[in-house]
Amino acid sequence: MDITLLISLTMTILGLSYNAEGSSFSFREASLHDIRTALDQNRLTSRELVEFYLREIQRLNPVLNAVIEVNPDALYLADKADQERKSTQPSGSMKGLAGVPILLKDNIATKDKLNTTAGSYALLRSVVPQDAGVVKKLRKAGAIILGKASMTEWAAYRSSSLPNGWNARRGQSVNPYLKSADPCGSSTGSATSVAANMAAVTLGTETAGSILCPSSSNSVVGIKPTVGLTSRAGVVPISPRQDTVGPICRTVSDAVYVLDAIVGFDPDDAIATNKASKYIPRAGYLQFLKSNGLEGKRLGIPRNSFVGFRNSSEKLKTFEPHFNTLRKRGAVLVDIVDTADFDIIVSSMNNDQYKAMNVEFKIALNAYLEQLVTSPVRSLAEAIVFNEKHSKLEKIEEYGQDIFEAAEKTNGIGRMERELLLNLTRACKNGFEKLMKENKLDALVTADHNVCYVISAGGYPGINVPAGYDNDGLPYGISFGGLKGSEPKLIEIAYDFEQATKIRKPPPL
Ligand SMILES: *[C@@H]1O[C@H](CO)[C@@H](O)[C@H](O)[C@H]1NC(C)=O
Ligand SMILES: *[C@@H]1O[C@H](CO)[C@@H](O)[C@H](O)[C@H]1NC(C)=O
Ligand SMILES: *[C@@H]1O[C@H](CO)[C@@H](O)[C@H](O)[C@H]1NC(C)=O
Repeated sequence: MDITLLISLTMTILGLSYNAEGSSFSFREASLHDIRTALDQNRLTSRELVEFYLREIQRLNPVLNAVIEVNPDALYLADKADQERKSTQPSGSMKGLAGVPILLKDNIATKDKLNTTAGSYALLRSVVPQDAGVVKKLRKAGAIILGKASMTEWAAYRSSSLPNGWNARRGQSVNPYLKSADPCGSSTGSATSVAANMAAVTLGTETAGSILCPSSSNSVVGIKPTVGLTSRAGVVPISPRQDTVGPICRTVSDAVYVLDAIVGFDPDDAIATNKASKYIPRAGYLQFLKSNGLEGKRLGIPRNSFVGFRNSSEKLKTFEPHFNTLRKRGAVLVDIVDTADFDIIVSSMNNDQYKAMNVEFKIALNAYLEQLVTSPVRSLAEAIVFNEKHSKLEKIEEYGQDIFEAAEKTNGIGRMERELLLNLTRACKNGFEKLMKENKLDALVTADHNVCYVISAGGYPGINVPAGYDNDGLPYGISFGGLKGSEPKLIEIAYDFEQATKIRKPPPL
C-alpha cells in the first residue's frame, strides 16, 4: 500500500484528515472556529466534514439513539458548498456557517426529504409548507442540514410519564457519559449528538427547561434565547408565550456563531420577532466572546430557594471552586437570601405556567397542524385518536397521553385564562425582575439547569455551561439567567467562565 494512503487511512480512523498539503485537521471536538479556518485554508472540505459526522452517526446511533433521520442530500449539499467556496475565494469571504453540518431537533420543520415529526408517528409523512424561520436563516448562512435529532416526543407535552428522551420513532435516547443516567429532555438528541461529536452544532427548542436541562446533563453549552429573538414559525409548538429556538453546541463560541445566524425578524412570527429584534446588537454576538467578560459582573446566588441549589448543601460545596473562579475573574457574587415570599411567587408561577400552557398548546398545535400541506392528523383531537389507534407503536398503555387529554379539554382564552396570564406576568415582575433590579444583578446563577424555574414563564434568556462530573461521571452544568435581551451579558459571563475552567471533556465512547 502506498504510504500516503496508509497515513491517510490511519488518520481517518483517528478522526484526522490528511490532505495533499500534509496538514491535518482534527474532526473530533472541532470547533466552528477550527472548521471555518480549515475550510478557508483548504485543509478541509465540507464533504469530508459531512462524511465524518455521517460515519459517527452510523457508528454511535445504534447505542445512543440521538438521531431520528439523516438527510439523504447532505453529501450533495456539502459538494455544493465546496464548489461555492472555491468560486468565492479569496478565503475569509465565507458566509457564517458555510458548509457546516447541523442537526435540528425533530420539531423544527424542513422543506426537504426529511420528516418533521416531534418524534411521533402521528406526524410521519406530514408535509410542511416551508422551512421553519430559523431553517431559512441557517440555509442563508450556508449551513447544511445534516438531519433531525431525537427528542422527548411532542417536546414532553404528550404525557407526564414519558421518559426524557423517549419517542416512538427512535426509542430511548441515551446519555453518552453514563448509559444508565437520565439524558434529560426534551432537546435530548441535540445535546447527546453534539456531545458525542455526531454533528458540528445543533438546534434545540425550549418551553420550560428543554435546552438548558439536556445541555447540563450531557456536558454541552445551550443558549435559551429571549422569546422572540429567534423565530418559532414552522416549529411544532407548545406555547408561543414561552417557546424559543436556540443552539446546543460543545462550546460557548460555537453556540454564539449559531445564535448569530438564527436571530432576527421573521414575517411568519412577526409580532414576537419584531418586538425582540430591538435586543439584537448591530454587530452581532461574537463581539461578546471576551476574555474579561466576568469583570464587574454582579451575579446572584440564590442560597436557599428551590430554584437555585435546592436543598443540597453538598451541591453548594461542589460549586465553591466555581464561585472562587467567578470572583477571581472579577465578578461580584451577591448572596440572594431568597425569602419565603420569593419561593411562593416562583412556585405558584410554575404551577400557573403549566395551566396556561395547556390552553395555549391546544390553540397553537391546532394552528400548526392546520397549516401543513398534508398530515395524518389535523388537530390535537385527531392526534389523541391516532395514538389510541396506534397504542402499541406509541406505547400508550405504558406512557399514556394525559397532557394531550387535559389540553384537549380546554376551551381557549376566556376571562379566567386572561386573569391567569395577568397573574403570570405579575409574578414575573414581582419575582425575577424585582430580584434582578433590586440587587442590580447581571445574571442569576444556579446549579444544573435550575435557572429555568425562574426564567421560563417570562420568556427570559439563559445559558448553560459544563461545570463538572459527579463520582459516576455524570455531567452537570452551571446556568446563568438574565432579563430580556441580556444575551450579550450572559455570553460574556458564560464565555469567560468556560475559558477559565475548560471543564468539558468528550464522552467516553
Ligand atoms: C420520511 O418518512 C418516510 C416514511 O417512513 C420514509 O420513507 C422516508 O425515508 C423518511 N425520510 C427520511 C429522510 O428519512
Ligand atoms: C432534596 O430535594 C430533592 C428534590 O430535588 C428530594 O428528592 C430530596 O428528598 C430532598 N432531600 C432532603 C434531605 O430534603
Ligand atoms: C390570580 O391571582 C389572584 C391573587 O393571588 C388569585 O386570587 C386568583 O385566583 C388568580 N387567578 C387565577 C385565574 O389563577
